[in-house]
Amino acid sequence: GGRVAGARHAFRPCAARGRWRGEHRDRPGAGASRRSDGRFVRRDHDLVARETRTPRTAAGEPALAARFGRALRAWFRKNGRDLPWRRTRDPYRVLVSEAMLQQTQVSRVVDYYARFLARFPTLDRLAAARPAQVRESWQGLGYYARARNLHALSRRDDGELPSEPGELRKLPGVGAYTAGAVASFAFEKRAVLVDTNVARVIRRAFAPRADFKSGRGSKRIWAIAEALLPKTGAQTWQHNQAIMELGAIVCTARTAYCNRCPVQALCVTGRRTTAAVGWKSRKY
Ligand code: ADE
Repeated sequence: GGRVAGARHAFRPCAARGRWRGEHRDRPGAGASRRSDGRFVRRDHDLVARETRTPRTAAGEPALAARFGRALRAWFRKNGRDLPWRRTRDPYRVLVSEAMLQQTQVSRVVDYYARFLARFPTLDRLAAARPAQVRESWQGLGYYARARNLHALSRRDDGELPSEPGELRKLPGVGAYTAGAVASFAFEKRAVLVDTNVARVIRRAFAPRADFKSGRGSKRIWAIAEALLPKTGAQTWQHNQAIMELGAIVCTARTAYCNRCPVQALCVTGRRTTAAVGWKSRKY
């Protein structure tokens, strides 16, 4: 599965894009025929070619999705930041990092993360803590509900974190994004994730008109994210870290630094620009 619906055939005609375009403009294409009034009409296969000439998304074509992923991962191996939660596969530690990183910048999280884990090194130790201790360790990070959920989660009876996104989602405070993050970052499952950074990258690259805040747009962006996933779980760990990292340091909310982007040539926005693109509006 994973392919974006309807986009399956979108790419084949693209290889001959220039030729078709030229033919349509200057003279009828090879498939056109002359009507009795002397005007040319296109035959069906020509219309199909025209319709699919501009692909809606590179993610619909497996070969291009693979190219996108390979370029992205290669870039990440060289340029990704060495962050503490990228050095662990401990589900508890990954979950703590994701809880802290919701709505909070990486630079602010680093210290809290280390201190929190020094004080509560395992899920059991967190479960044994008093709420006031947990609150104290979270003081200053804000959105205390995140800590409360984490604490509640640690006190469930089974004591182990599940590895499947569907199971993870049943836990307090764990939504679709966090479920995908824990499954892929801790268990190296081939699980999809989309947060606002990832959504922005996908929207600019493949779906400029999609609105992540609408139900339909969100669905479309998740579907593209899924179609982009590499084959294996280990690659998925890197892929998910990489696409988040791209959104954090290259394809940022304020500016798209297309000139530094590893997937510029595979991106709708990148193909239109040569340098950094700044956005003032909600449009991008
Ligand atoms: N924000 C949420 N998860 C993150 C991660 N694994 N790395 C960087 N920023 C993140």
